[in-house]
Amino acid sequence: MTLVDGHGRVHRDLRISLTDHCNLRCTYCMPAEGVPWLPRDTLLSPVELMRIVRVGVAAGITEVRLTGGEPLLRPDIIEIVARIAALRTPDGGPLDLAITTNGIGLARLAEPLVDAGLTRVNVSIDTLHPERFRSMTRRDRHADVLAGIAAAAEAGLRPVKLNAVLMRGVNDDEAVDLLGWAISQGHELRFIEQMPLDAGHTWTRRNMVTADEIFERLATRYTLTPEGGRGAAPAERFLVDGGPARVGIIASVTRPFCGACDRLRLTADGQLRSCLFAQTESDVRTPLRAGSDDAVIEAIMHRCLAGKLPGHGINEPGFLQPARPMSAIGG
Ligand code: 5AD
Ligand code: SF4
Repeated sequence: MTLVDGHGRVHRDLRISLTDHCNLRCTYCMPAEGVPWLPRDTLLSPVELMRIVRVGVAAGITEVRLTGGEPLLRPDIIEIVARIAALRTPDGGPLDLAITTNGIGLARLAEPLVDAGLTRVNVSIDTLHPERFRSMTRRDRHADVLAGIAAAAEAGLRPVKLNAVLMRGVNDDEAVDLLGWAISQGHELRFIEQMPLDAGHTWTRRNMVTADEIFERLATRYTLTPEGGRGAAPAERFLVDGGPARVGIIASVTRPFCGACDRLRLTADGQLRSCLFAQTESDVRTPLRAGSDDAVIEAIMHRCLAGKLPGHGINEPGFLQPARPMSAIGG
């Protein structure tokens, strides 16, 4: 049965965090050290993952996105992609399968991933300056990210989708440069408003660079024409200087798109979440390992979505940041 929540939203998009580990430590996501890692034996195996994905696809999931942490750190990433890419929707079509990655590892993996059936990739890049990258991510890996992005394009994952988060006083002077670079390389850039998901709980509304500010900065250099037709997609898309180049701005906080949300999330340790900001999780790992059949797993999906709130509530007075940081939930 289709995955519909209590507000009539049909769920088509399953976002799977494959690991809570990462080779970067972005300040808006992870702490510098002392990460409470998930116990290894709680991570789902490819076979366990596939059970859940298969049940989801039978219930109407058409889009699967693999995230983390850093999903390319999973030693079995190629096997996982190949297995998911081989699935078919009930009407016989392929799934839309994408990976969101920090790009490190793509230089090595882009080609095998494409061979395994991957068709889309999103890579995070918040700055064009290696030194700034080092302070934003606490790791000196800027060159690896650039090499990864180039390898993705080379392997045919075009256009490469790039994500950038701007932070006030850190990299918010780079909006125009990042877009100029992305366009020159033939990539498609999207800016994302910083959300309160950091492990240190240091997010403040004042420090968030808003979608309106991003638009204003870009407009100092480019003519942006709204494309419309957003659907369930979070990005507001604009043609740049009449196109064909485009840019997306994701106003997650200032113009939430929760009303059109079609996402269901699965953490690396087998917990379903109806929202990044949900305060509760539904355990599928335990019943799965206890030998439950597909109907039980599907029932857990429906129960999880029955409790889905209409919105993330970031702009409401009683808002509580989720207990787990983004790296453990999946972006
Ligand atoms: N707010 C907005 N985006 C975030 N990301 C990670 N943490 C946050 C946050 N607090 C982004 C990463 C990546 C994607 C998975 O989510 O930059 O592009
Ligand atoms: Fe790693 Fe992505 Fe978090 Fe940065 S934002 S620390 S790349 S999981």
